[in-house]
Amino acid sequence: MDHFAYRDGELHAEDVPVARIAAEVGTPFFCYSTATLRRHYSVFSDALAGVDATICYAVKANANLAVIRTLAQLGAGADVVSGGELERALTAGIAPEHVVFSGVGKSRNELTLALDARIGQFNIESAEELELLSKLAAAADVTARVAVRVNPDVDAETHKKISTGRHKDKFGIPWPEARDVYARGAALPGIEIIGVAVHIGSQITTLKPFETAFGRIVDIVGRLRADGHDIRRLDLGGGLGVPYESETPPSPAEYGEMVRKVTLGVGCELVFEPGRVIVGNAGVLVSRVLYVKNSAGRTFTVLDAAMNDLLRPSLYNARHAILPAREPAADAESLPMDIVGPICESGDVFARDRPMPPLVTDDLLVIRTAGAYGAVMSSNYNGRPLAAEVLVNGDVFEIVRRHQTTAEMLGLERIPSWLGGFDADRERGAA
Ligand code: LLP
Repeated sequence: MDHFAYRDGELHAEDVPVARIAAEVGTPFFCYSTATLRRHYSVFSDALAGVDATICYAVKANANLAVIRTLAQLGAGADVVSGGELERALTAGIAPEHVVFSGVGKSRNELTLALDARIGQFNIESAEELELLSKLAAAADVTARVAVRVNPDVDAETHKKISTGRHKDKFGIPWPEARDVYARGAALPGIEIIGVAVHIGSQITTLKPFETAFGRIVDIVGRLRADGHDIRRLDLGGGLGVPYESETPPSPAEYGEMVRKVTLGVGCELVFEPGRVIVGNAGVLVSRVLYVKNSAGRTFTVLDAAMNDLLRPSLYNARHAILPAREPAADAESLPMDIVGPICESGDVFARDRPMPPLVTDDLLVIRTAGAYGAVMSSNYNGRPLAAEVLVNGDVFEIVRRHQTTAEMLGLERIPSWLGGFDADRERGAA
């Protein structure tokens, strides 16, 4: 359930008409709902009631400081995959001991940053990374708490680009190689082995792959303990899917039930890294119709949002529900149209042959389920500034990231000496 709904013919985010925000902020912008974030977080944590569990929100899904802080206030930790995400989590108020650092390629600088911050857990993905972490930790005279990410060779039955738990994927260490890494870790200075981590993919819509993977990991815990390791944390990753249009993923309650069953008696603190299930349906992308172009028997509705703002339809052929901000009349006719962005690529399409009520220039369209992997994946392609982000809370809203300016985009660049040597922003200022 989310808090985007029509009231008196106008789409509202909680108690605020989306059209009012659009008039004040300018389109395109992402709009997030505090009540929905809170609700999704509590549904997930309620599903684990009675379980010794830590929820480390996967910052990669939506890294806006205001979103992270909303979740931090509810008790969330953070799963981060870069130094940048770590700094975001800490800035937003997540306690360092509740931070898990995941990722297949953590740099020396990132490991150092995380050691300095005294984060709670490093999820190690290779023997080489473990050796480097040991060297850095020993030099700094600190101890890194380590889980090894094990690759269970399970197909998550999701889009191939977001499946991570098969041996052919780059993630984790397959058993029995992982067993050697644990043995090595136990002997290294600066390393304290605490657990096992697994993450098999994202937007997973059935329980079966989770169940298979978790079962394999529980079995591995037993073997590691037999090898003499004190395994006390089990990080089960994220990945629970959400409904975009017609999907029917398991509920968090069903997921929690399955977890309870599979981990019964394992005697570990459990860690979860949910991203999409918390923020996906807590956000929308609001855009204005620039033109309705009828050509060659097709209707192209051209928006001011594009694939640089929301990449998912272009990259994964993802289907997002799209609604007009003004509720169509019950008897309004419905016409198939292609809803597209202005970018110079044929793939810049949000939906093809989508039945929609007739639209005209300046109408507002709302692309749903854009709270996860929306703003975080946006770019400046085609010289387009990053869109604004807005957080609604009841009957108020605030801009939590303003629109980027063109000057800010150009400001990172400079012309080299042999071409005249100037900073783009200084030149513009002088002009
Ligand atoms: N933990 C790890 C180690 C991960 O790699 C991920 C997501 C998560 C947790 C959170 O997964 P979630 O609960 O959000 O499914 N850009 C893609 C999704 C990529 C997910 C990458 N890893 C998309 O737009 O569908």
